[in-house]
Amino acid sequence: MTSVNKQMFLVADTAEAVQAAPAQRRLNFAAESERVAKGGSAAHVGQVIAVARSRGGIGATMLAVNLAHQLASIGAKRKGGPARRVALVDLDLQFGMVSGFLDLEPSPALYDMARDGSVPDETFLEQSLQSTPDGLDVLCAPSAFAPLDALRPEQLRGLIEAMQARYDYVVVDLPHALVDWVSPVLGHAGLMYLVTDLSVPSLQQARRLIDAYSEDNLAMEIEVVVNHEARPLLPRRQHQEAARALDRELRHWLPEDPRAAKEAADRGLPLGRVARRSALSKAVGKLAQERLKKAAAAAQQN
Ligand SMILES: Nc1ncnc2c1ncn2[C@@H]1O[C@H](COP(=O)(O)OP(=O)(O)OP(=O)(O)O)[C@@H](O)[C@H]1O
Ligand SMILES: [Mg+2]
Repeated sequence: MTSVNKQMFLVADTAEAVQAAPAQRRLNFAAESERVAKGGSAAHVGQVIAVARSRGGIGATMLAVNLAHQLASIGAKRKGGPARRVALVDLDLQFGMVSGFLDLEPSPALYDMARDGSVPDETFLEQSLQSTPDGLDVLCAPSAFAPLDALRPEQLRGLIEAMQARYDYVVVDLPHALVDWVSPVLGHAGLMYLVTDLSVPSLQQARRLIDAYSEDNLAMEIEVVVNHEARPLLPRRQHQEAARALDRELRHWLPEDPRAAKEAADRGLPLGRVARRSALSKAVGKLAQERLKKAAAAAQQN
């Protein structure tokens, strides 16, 4: 038995036990958002921002990593310390690459959670988060393959609520699959960035995902991020058709910038550290600025 198989075998019992209750295993985003709306969660502190993708390799992890980095570092220098507490969580359980983007170690935490069924608490966070020099705290995905259905929604609810209590922003890189344990994360997320390009197959998938994620009236905004394309001066017919197909304005655009993206990925550093003036870094920075401005405006109103 290879070590990978052996590791997968270790979590089989948990997975079987979980599969034994199929009625509870259905995706139930509606129930989750209702629960959150009724105040069933811990006192909400941090904002959860989920990042999803319409197809593999489109740039969701690049956005999650650099958005989290910018949220943590904008204004930090001026005030002489991290401006705000930001965490990044890699929920791409089997193929998570956040550790590679930030030169961190994969973490066994989610794998252990899947194996022993535990619900994360403060101690779990203390033991499993790694910090970058920019003051960003990161929960990386495991290197061992855990079955996708080995986690339970209660565990993710515990994780996300513990993180919200501790951080101002929790950026989550979602798994591609629509697994039920993601429901609590979406139930707590105020915003999802859905990263796509404008090819017809990507748009079709994006539309399906928007429908699936918003079907149960989640109190979660879904904003489209067009990657590999600079914002057009004037929207062309293709852009108007894409916006119509997604039933959404194409609000955010990230230009194709292979040089900056490669430099950052090869060095395991955020764009803001290796290519601060690049078009891609600036575009992600703009997105982060917009979030911070909205949060400041909301705080002033309260
Ligand atoms: N705007 C861009 N310009 C150039 N390269 C980019 C851009 N956005 C992302 N990339 C590069 O594309 C590759 C894939 O990006 P990334 O891993 O973020 O995609 P993903 O959607 O998370 O993929 P996966 O399906 O593996 O989760 C990476 O090498 C990344 O640096
Ligand atoms: Mg990814």
